[in-house]
Amino acid sequence: MADQVAGVKSAEELAKTQKGVSVSEFFEKNRHLLGYDNKIKALLIIVKEGVDNALDACEEARILPDIYVKMEEVGTEKYKIVIRDNGPGIVKQNIPKVFGSLLYGSKFHRLRQNRGAQGLGISCAVMYSQLTTGEPVEILSSVGDGKTHRYKMKIDVKNNIAQVLEEETLTGKEWHGVQITFVCEGVYREHKQSVLEYIKQTAIANPFSNIVFEGPTGRFDFKRTVNELPKEPKEIPPHIEGVEYGVFERMLRATSARSVASFLTTEFSRLGKTTADEICKVAGIDGKISPRRVEDKDIGKLVQATKQVKLIAPPTDVLSPLGDKLIEEGLKKELNPEFIATVSRSPAVYRGFPFQVEVGIAYGQSITEFKIIRLANRVPLLYQQGDCAITKSSMEIDWKRYKFQSDKLPTEPMVLFVHICSVWVPFTSESKEAIASYPEIMKEIKLAIQEAARKVSLYLSGIRKAEYQAERMKTFEKYAEETAKALEDLTGENAKKIKQLIDKVVSERSGEFQDMGEEDAEEKTKKTKDDEDGGEDE
Ligand SMILES: Nc1ncnc2c1ncn2[C@@H]1O[C@H](COP(=O)(O)OP(=O)(O)O)[C@@H](O)[C@H]1O
Ligand SMILES: [Mg+2]
Repeated sequence: MADQVAGVKSAEELAKTQKGVSVSEFFEKNRHLLGYDNKIKALLIIVKEGVDNALDACEEARILPDIYVKMEEVGTEKYKIVIRDNGPGIVKQNIPKVFGSLLYGSKFHRLRQNRGAQGLGISCAVMYSQLTTGEPVEILSSVGDGKTHRYKMKIDVKNNIAQVLEEETLTGKEWHGVQITFVCEGVYREHKQSVLEYIKQTAIANPFSNIVFEGPTGRFDFKRTVNELPKEPKEIPPHIEGVEYGVFERMLRATSARSVASFLTTEFSRLGKTTADEICKVAGIDGKISPRRVEDKDIGKLVQATKQVKLIAPPTDVLSPLGDKLIEEGLKKELNPEFIATVSRSPAVYRGFPFQVEVGIAYGQSITEFKIIRLANRVPLLYQQGDCAITKSSMEIDWKRYKFQSDKLPTEPMVLFVHICSVWVPFTSESKEAIASYPEIMKEIKLAIQEAARKVSLYLSGIRKAEYQAERMKTFEKYAEETAKALEDLTGENAKKIKQLIDKVVSERSGEFQDMGEEDAEEKTKKTKDDEDGGEDE
């Protein structure tokens, strides 16, 4: 044939090289997708996966978390990491699955505010360890029945299952929880995106936890200051607004509902009979027929119809925000600021998922520079700052309007803490480092930051006013003495007496001076601001 060139291969020959890939093999090759792209970050991710799971498990079992993390250098760029919690533990038969299979977990199939979601975290940490050092992990788990199950295992990457090397049941120790020991490649640094910084931010956002970190540079104790857990989040069914064709079809085919109308009302959030009937009517489908009898060509009509009827928003009381008190408590205990402003927005919805934004701004005292702390479901996000909806929203704020010195972000010594909680946080990638910029989310973040900025600005103008006022009073006092002396020379009256009279007038009229001072102070800030603006233009 004319279009053939030398070395042509047939489809049969090509078929010999085609084969499936296990999920473990995929992530072994693509570990950067989960954030394992450098040795410094690797240590952080392993600690983060362990600690996030520990906090999730404790909160779900309603236990105040006590978490212990130890990290020691055991060779060149080789670290041993131990993470222990006092959670409910993991039952024996599930231990190999949790640590030995990627995409195994309890959180993927439900819509509920959790830290984890995909069932990838801890098994990928196991895989990274064995990949970089060849060492298995050791797991100890007890559910509080006096038995401790000890496993040493690796992952059989080809088959995505655990390869158990040692297994025993120990008795004689009463405890509950999980302890994992990894040996992996890494580099320990204490900089902006370090293990220590992650633990510190975790302590701020989870002030109901005790966290101890014994690291290469010493022991750090992050103490619990609140003795109750935040309210328990609730699991909700999906909202039809966020369900696309493929998922709708799968749900319809798997449902045990007897009619299409009852499928709609039972499997979706906040979808009542009237709406279900209306959807069927718009789609031209009898709502009473069995879901099994819906023909493939009609599924699309149903999905389209859901977009044409008026839907009720999903419930929003299912989330577990931190609330003003916890945000304030966390910022106070770890940052020791001069002033804290907090804002909790009401829940909102993106793609059918409820979410809520909370902001805290801590100003001054021990804080020396501007910093953003980003959190999703109480987990600090340390990487991909520029890609995150939180950073982008912060940069779109007109900070100068609130009298902050700023170009894109303020230069004041303050920490901007932004927490978004949701039943499903839209991360930009599997490594869960940044939040996607949905307009609904950006808008809520901006409104929350603006409100908090306003509070800080009011506080600061109060302080500036008070300082200005004190300065003015000092000037009056200084001149009163000199004026009294001059008047004594002129009139022969006693200078002391004149001074007393002047003091009386000053204190009586200090209210008026104060008002004058306020206007002047404001005038003064405005002037400096204008000056700066002018300066920048040059
Ligand atoms: N420390 C722990 N205590 C109790 N259960 C745990 C612990 N760590 C992990 N698990 C269980 O193992 C599952 C898998 O964990 P992981 O791979 O991190 O996935 P994810 O957290 O995304 O669900 C979790 O969903 C949870 O059910
Ligand atoms: Mg996890």
